[in-house]
Parts: sequence; structure tokens; C-alpha cells
Amino acid sequence: MCKCLLVLIAIITACAVADQSSASAGTRQDAGQPNIVFVLADDFGFHDVGYHGSEIHTPTLDALSASGVRLENYYVQPICTPTRSQLMSGRYQIHTGLQHGIINSCQPNALPNDSPTLADKLKESGYATHMVGKWHLGFYKQEYLPWNRGFDTYFGYLNAAEDYFNHNVPWRQVRYLDLRDNNGPVRNETGQYSAHLFTGKAIDVVQSHNTSKPLFLYLAYQSVHAPLEVPEKYEHKYRNITDKNRRTFAGMVSALDEGVANLTQALKDKGLWNNTVLIFSTDNGGQIHAGGNNYPLRGWKASLWEGGFHGVGFVSGGALKRSGAVSKGLIHVSDWFPTLVTLAGGNLNGTKPLDGFNQWDTISNETPSPREILLHNIDILYPQKGVPLYSNTWDTRVRAAIRVGDYKLITGDPGNGSWVPPPDGHLYFVPEIQESAAKNVWLFNITADPNEHNDLSSEKPLEVLRLLQILVQFNNTAVPPRYPAPDPRCDPALHGDVWGPWE
Ligand SMILES: *[C@@H]1O[C@H](CO)[C@@H](O)[C@H](O)[C@H]1NC(C)=O
Ligand SMILES: *[C@@H]1O[C@H](CO)[C@@H](O)[C@H](O)[C@H]1NC(C)=O
Ligand SMILES: *[C@@H]1O[C@H](CO)[C@@H](O)[C@H](O)[C@H]1NC(C)=O
Ligand SMILES: *[C@@H]1O[C@H](CO)[C@@H](O)[C@H](O)[C@H]1NC(C)=O
Ligand SMILES: *[C@@H]1O[C@H](CO)[C@@H](O)[C@H](O)[C@H]1NC(C)=O
Ligand SMILES: *[C@@H]1O[C@H](CO)[C@@H](O)[C@H](O)[C@H]1NC(C)=O
Ligand SMILES: *[C@@H]1O[C@H](CO)[C@@H](O)[C@H](O)[C@H]1NC(C)=O
Ligand SMILES: *[C@@H]1O[C@H](CO)[C@@H](O)[C@H](O)[C@H]1NC(C)=O
Ligand SMILES: *[C@@H]1O[C@H](CO)[C@@H](O)[C@H](O)[C@H]1NC(C)=O
Repeated sequence: MCKCLLVLIAIITACAVADQSSASAGTRQDAGQPNIVFVLADDFGFHDVGYHGSEIHTPTLDALSASGVRLENYYVQPICTPTRSQLMSGRYQIHTGLQHGIINSCQPNALPNDSPTLADKLKESGYATHMVGKWHLGFYKQEYLPWNRGFDTYFGYLNAAEDYFNHNVPWRQVRYLDLRDNNGPVRNETGQYSAHLFTGKAIDVVQSHNTSKPLFLYLAYQSVHAPLEVPEKYEHKYRNITDKNRRTFAGMVSALDEGVANLTQALKDKGLWNNTVLIFSTDNGGQIHAGGNNYPLRGWKASLWEGGFHGVGFVSGGALKRSGAVSKGLIHVSDWFPTLVTLAGGNLNGTKPLDGFNQWDTISNETPSPREILLHNIDILYPQKGVPLYSNTWDTRVRAAIRVGDYKLITGDPGNGSWVPPPDGHLYFVPEIQESAAKNVWLFNITADPNEHNDLSSEKPLEVLRLLQILVQFNNTAVPPRYPAPDPRCDPALHGDVWGPWE
């Protein structure tokens, strides 16, 4: 049996080789390496996608996900830099020093380069690697920038929350350009809405791609993060939404959805689609103060409630031989690293120990997820809450959350845990929260209670203790968080009026 298999593999290999010599294009692709297109949306909430019952229309995302696999037990991190750092490294923040907050514009901080990025590994596996959009993994030194982290080309911005049309970010009341093309500032795109600009650049990448290599495209949209800005025509179709923030936000989502449609069409036109795996993911939960929504999940962006990080995500594309499916396997953003590198036929040599799991079988076959435990985070720099409730184990004042099987444990201050329906959704029932202000431990069975209504911490003290002990073990493997003071040398006025490296 084993021998037959070997023979079979030899025949297949021989065919693939023959194909390569006869075909003028698509050679590596015939060898089984799919194109990988990763679309990351910013601050896109659980209730902001049509297929979750949103009042916002996302026909493209609905159709793409319906022709693939919707990930309905999928987790990201509660804020921006952390999710991107785990996507690029496959490692938890406690292992990269980025466990506190985001990287602010002037902090001399970055995703450490002691371990290769996803782009490094895909490039090593023979991929052409391109990035368009938001980096937000640190830029104070050249060596941390995308073009030095495995991307052949880069077009995008380094900070967060810039203007969608003018592509600038303030420093001490003055706004400075943050837009680059392979390290050079881009000064001629003022007025181009970023959903159009970035989609256009991603389409350029697709159109000029030489198919002798497989393609890795990482498109990290600015959409739909604040500021709330969109060309009027997108907002107009939502004029029945009375809340101004939600209305503009809905328009921004529509522009994003249209961008994904255009990109998909470009992949089809180029003949790449049937050998492409397209992944769509948010970076964190929606921000309710800037139009986003996560109902019926509890809490929102930046919190340790499900609304902070139970993310929208799906996998689609012609290389995925499964459609109309919903995956209930526990999948986390750190899993993409081993999943995609392995799918690309690469190896995981040379990385620091990964926290992600290869989830390709979970996604493509619905085999059980190899992931039992998911450390949401431990943040020892976050202001503590309440008093330590147990001795000789985890200090419950410290902000942390962990998932172990069905259970999720939260300690410290998880942030505001209200259930917030969309502004025009007055028909939704919102329970009142009656909790002491000093409470600092919660336990939920997320499988039974995904919206966190039913705290089990007093009912199941032994489960609480078991999960606290696992937090202690994780904490023992943590590196110290890095959160340096701002460095005034970042001032763009000192560097040609454009944001960029200063050391
Ligand atoms: C606005 O109208 C659209 C149909 O055009 C509908 O799908 C949506 O639910 C409406 N939203 C509100 C808030 O009434
Ligand atoms: C800006 O310049 C680039 C490079 O020359 C060009 O490709 C692009 O079309 C220009 N954009 C606009 C809006 O003119
Ligand atoms: C694509 O790359 C191959 C291998 O490097 C090269 O031989 C070929 O000329 C390239 N095709 C185009 C259209 O640039
Ligand atoms: C999508 O393509 C259409 C047709 O070319 C164009 O009008 C529209 O602006 C594009 N949208 C985005 C978001 O790129
Ligand atoms: C993929 O698409 C190309 C171009 O449309 C076509 O020639 C090829 O047969 C397709 N391959 C598969 C496996 O569907
Ligand atoms: C990765 O490690 C394996 C096993 O040690 C080795 O066979 C392989 O050559 C390595 N690959 C690379 C690219 O270093
Ligand atoms: C977690 O680890 C840090 C060192 O990284 C240590 O200072 C702290 O006491 C530990 N916290 C708990 C609750 O074990
Ligand atoms: C939590 O957020 C809700 C919704 O914005 C707000 O009504 C409530 O006052 C907040 N609670 C606290 C304690 O800040
Ligand atoms: C969590 O709830 C689900 C659904 O009710 C149940 O099947 C499962 O056994 C529960 N898990 C634990 C650990 O009690």
C-alpha cells in the first residue's frame, strides 16, 4: 500500500513536471501551491456583516462566504496591533512583548524580528509577496518595515486612524502624510478614498503578477475604522438609518464590500481564482462609538468580552474544495501562520515556538480543531481591578482572558460589558447588568452561552481554579511587555513631512 502510494506520488509529480515544461504560465501553481489572498478589515464588527443579520448590506462578503466556509468560532485580538502581530508571527503577544495596547505613532517599538513573518516564510516557499494597506507593526527603524519583513512590494500606511482622503495623521496639531510605495512617499493621491486606492493597488498587483510564481497578497484595508468618512453615494443608500455614525459607517462597509468584489473579479479575469484561497478577517470587534456593532455579543472593541474579539472571518476561493459550510472549530488569528505556510508547501523552520495550529483540515474537512486552549491575552500593565480572590494562584486583579474548551475565564478589568444593539435596532432586548464594580472574575460556557449572559464563576469554583492555574503557566512563559515612552524624534517635520523611520 505504501509502495503504491509512492508510485502514485511519483506519477503525479512526473505529470506536474511535464505540465510545467509545457505550460507557459501557472507552473508553480500546478505543483499545488495555491495563491493566497488575505483581506483584513479594520474594526469590522460581528453585527456589521450581512450574513449575521445586519441592516448593512454586504452582498459580496455574503456570497463569497456562502461559496466557501464561514468561520463561526473564530477569534482575533481586541485591538489592532495585537491581531496583526499574531497574524504575521503566529505567536501570542505574551511571547513578542506586545501584550499592552497598540504601537503608538512615536513609540520606538515594533514586532520583533527574531522570528520570520508569514511573508518571509511564503517568500521562502517561492511566493511573490505583496502588501497593500495598514501595517501598524512599528516603523521606527527601517528593518521593521514591510519591505524588510518579507514583502516584495508595499503600498500603504504605517500608523492608524488616518484621513481616508488625505492620508495624513496628526502630530502636535499638524497633519503629516502617511502613505508610501516601496519606501517612497506618495504625495499625489490626495482626494482618493482609501477603499478605492487600496483596491486599485491590489488589482495592479494581481494584473501584473507573473504566474510563474504563486501569489501572496495581504490587503489590509483602512475600512472601516474611524474617522467616519465615505463618498456620499455609498452613504445615500442607507438614508433610512437615522443614526449619523451608523449611516456613514454602513456606507463605508458598502465601499469595502465593493472593493472585495472588484478584487475578486480581477483574480478571475487573470485566471487565478480557481487556484486561490481567499481569507477574509476582521482585526477586532466593532467600535460602538464609531458606528460599529457586535450585537448580540457582549462588549466591543478593546474589551475582553466576546464583542472585542469573536471575529467575522471566512475562507473562500476556487482552491477550497468546500462550499456552503459553517465551521464550528475553534480557530484563532495566530493559526493562519502555520496553516498558510503549510498549505503553501513551506516548512516552519527557523521560527520561535509558534502558538498557532495548522487549521487547514478543520477548515477544509471539518475535522476537529486541534486547538483546545486559546490565550486571549495577559496584560500586566493594564490598571488592576478589585482584590486578589485566591491565594497561591493567578492574581485576579490582573487583566487576562483564556478559553479552555467550552470555558472562558476573564480576570481583572475586561472593559465595559454592555450589550449594545445597533442604534436603530430598538426591537432588541437588552438585559441590565447588575454586577459589583469590583468584580474581577467571570466564567462562561461559551458554547452554551456565546453572548455571556450566564456567569458560572460562583457555581463552578473548581473550574475557575483550574483555569487560573493555566493562566499562571502561560504567565510563566511570558516576556516582559514593551511599551516605551514616545520618542520626539519621530516628528515627521524632521523627515520630509512624512511619517517614517527615525532611528
Ligand atoms: C433600511 O432599508 C433597507 C432596505 O432598503 C433594509 O434592509 C434595512 O433593514 C433598513 N434599515 C433600517 C434601520 O430600517
Ligand atoms: C500617482 O503617481 C503614480 C506613480 O507615478 C501613478 O501610478 C498614479 O496613477 C498617480 N495617481 C494619481 C491620482 O494621479
Ligand atoms: C515570468 O517569470 C519567468 C521566470 O522568472 C520569466 O522567465 C518570464 O519572462 C516572466 N514573464 C514575464 C511576462 O515577465
Ligand atoms: C469597483 O469597480 C467599479 C467599476 O470599475 C468602480 O466604479 C468602483 O469605484 C470600484 N470600487 C472600489 C471600492 O474600488
Ligand atoms: C482554472 O481556470 C483556468 C482558466 O480559466 C482553466 O483553464 C483551468 O482549467 C481551471 N482549472 C481548474 C482546476 O478548474
Ligand atoms: C527544514 O528542516 C528540515 C528538518 O530539519 C530540513 O530537512 C529542511 O531542509 C529544512 N528546510 C529549510 C528550508 O531550511
Ligand atoms: C506574571 O509574570 C510576571 C513576570 O512576567 C510577574 O511579575 C507576575 O508576578 C506574574 N503574575 C502572576 C499573577 O503570576
Ligand atoms: C457601558 O456602556 C454603555 C453603552 O455605551 C453605557 O450606557 C454605560 O453607561 C457604560 N457603563 C459604564 C460603567 O461605563
Ligand atoms: C457547555 O455547554 C454545552 C452546551 O450546552 C454542553 O454540551 C457542554 O457539555 C458544556 N461544557 C461543559 C464543560 O460543561
